Amino acid sequence: MASQAHAEDEAQLIKKGEYLSRLGDCMACHSLSGKPDYAGGLAIESNLGTIYSTNITPDKEHGIGNYNEQQFSDTVRKGVLPGGSRLYPAMPYPNYAQISDEDMHALYVYFMKGVKSSADQPTETSLSFPFSQRWGVRFWNWAFINDKPFQPIGGAS
Ligand code: HEC
Repeated sequence: MASQAHAEDEAQLIKKGEYLSRLGDCMACHSLSGKPDYAGGLAIESNLGTIYSTNITPDKEHGIGNYNEQQFSDTVRKGVLPGGSRLYPAMPYPNYAQISDEDMHALYVYFMKGVKSSADQPTETSLSFPFSQRWGVRFWNWAFINDKPFQPIGGAS
């Protein structure tokens, strides 16, 4: 039956996405102990100031439940938010630029369907001027330049 095959495909994708999320260590920054998985709120010290990770559960208001797949992919691989503003490089998107479309799809399905929605609102990042201006992010990406070569996620199966 088509619908059963579909459900099996989806279950497979969710499993794969969960595995990729573990490889990418998304939880390390997006989950705090004692809080729901992926509800965000980890304080990351940077030379720009303290940056808090965000809620990436499928909650439509506090999380990323309204992201379509393209927006999710642009955020994770390019650090570009829906609307065009940029994430602070405390989110290591340069490390994720090499994730394949196929793996990105599995991650998306996992985050939309495999992760439990949470309405937690983590502390919002408020850096002092001019770092509060997200348009400037591309100019200070150098501040985070990583000296460690990154192993791109890939070959999951
Ligand atoms: C080293 C810490 C770190 C890791 C690892 C990390 N993130 Fe992030 N992420 C952040 C921070 C910090 C932000 C918020 C950045 C900002 O406010 O500009 C963020 C923001 C995001 C956003 C934007 C959410 C929003 O608020 O709209 C998404 C989506 C996201 N991360 C997904 C992921 C995924 C998927 C992974 C694993 C593949 C991951 N992150 C791994 C730190 C991290």
